[in-house]
Amino acid sequence: MPNTQIQIFDTTLRDGEQVPGCQLNCDEKIEIARYLEKLGVDVMEVGFPISSPGDFKSVSRIAAIIKESTVCALSRAVKKDIEAAAKAIQSAARPRIHTGIGTSDSHVFNKLRTSRENVLERGVEAVKYAKTFVEDVEFYAEDAGRTDNEFLAKVIEAAIKAGATVVNIPDTTGYCLPSEYGAKIKFLKENVKGIHKATISTHCHNDLGLATANSISGVMNGAGQIECTVNGIGERAGNASMEEVVMIMRKHNDLNFDTRIDTKHLCKISALVSSKMNMPVQANKAIVGSNAFAHSSGIHQDGVIKSRETYEIIDPEEVGALDSSIVLTARSGRAALNYRAKKLGYELGKEELDKHYQNFLALADEKKVIQDQDLVQLFQVSATA
Ligand code: KIV
Ligand code: ZN
Repeated sequence: MPNTQIQIFDTTLRDGEQVPGCQLNCDEKIEIARYLEKLGVDVMEVGFPISSPGDFKSVSRIAAIIKESTVCALSRAVKKDIEAAAKAIQSAARPRIHTGIGTSDSHVFNKLRTSRENVLERGVEAVKYAKTFVEDVEFYAEDAGRTDNEFLAKVIEAAIKAGATVVNIPDTTGYCLPSEYGAKIKFLKENVKGIHKATISTHCHNDLGLATANSISGVMNGAGQIECTVNGIGERAGNASMEEVVMIMRKHNDLNFDTRIDTKHLCKISALVSSKMNMPVQANKAIVGSNAFAHSSGIHQDGVIKSRETYEIIDPEEVGALDSSIVLTARSGRAALNYRAKKLGYELGKEELDKHYQNFLALADEKKVIQDQDLVQLFQVSATA
């Protein structure tokens, strides 16, 4: 059986760009949008056009440039939002409007101060109105993660009946456990009439560090699209990270999922987004962190030198990372020292290696990380001593 193709919906330029300090100018957004297209994202959500004239302008410019990916604009379930979104993406080759409303009790009663019936009605009206502008309309049920499943099913069924082509089930507050989120998707799959007419989308936030796990649980239970961002940036603790969800599906053949993402661009786009948005990537970030392919303990270094797969499940080339690195510290063993010495052109015999190793440890205790020039100096001093 062929693998199921999971759609990758990137929202770096919308949910990601909402983060304080991450705002980009129009040219920077275009540069990222072009790279996202090259990467192979199926959909890119590039802004919330009603929010500001600057955002409207960048969405319009990106819409006119991007040809391969669907270009999506966000709106609330409000006519003037939908009109702005429609106008901003009017020149897109593949336009999509993303509209919706909060469905959890907290959103219905506290934020919107209305009734469930009214929310359902407004959602349906929004989808119908968006359909007058574009064929491809995605509906989101904000805070679906904390929405009662029976009511959520009712809203989703009505949205599909109104013409939604994609139904987004956001875990807006990052509250769900993977089992709970998966069960929610399964419930919708089994209880919503007409669900086969729409793609179910995940949109998971990372408040409990579960955004990636929840997204994967979502597709394992029937979702066909994952919403994510480069480096996992986004509101508060961020969104599901694109590089993580894509590589999980690529590495786990047993899941039988594919994406169109050209993974060898993942590190490059990570660096681009990080530098443009002024958001450093933590060193131990999965896939794209600077330590993701660095080995520092003696036991690990010995294993990797003998066979990379001992401690690496991803070939760095697959994601466009620099080669695996052996970091020399006081935890490194003789194998690592000898390996690095060879790279620098030194062929050390056993005795020589033992002697250098003791000096190396003393220096490493002092300097923490030993660089190539430290080694060259160490070998030279030892040779003249
Ligand atoms: O987190 C969320 O619920 C959102 C919606 C606007 C899709 O970002
Ligand atoms: Zn979000």
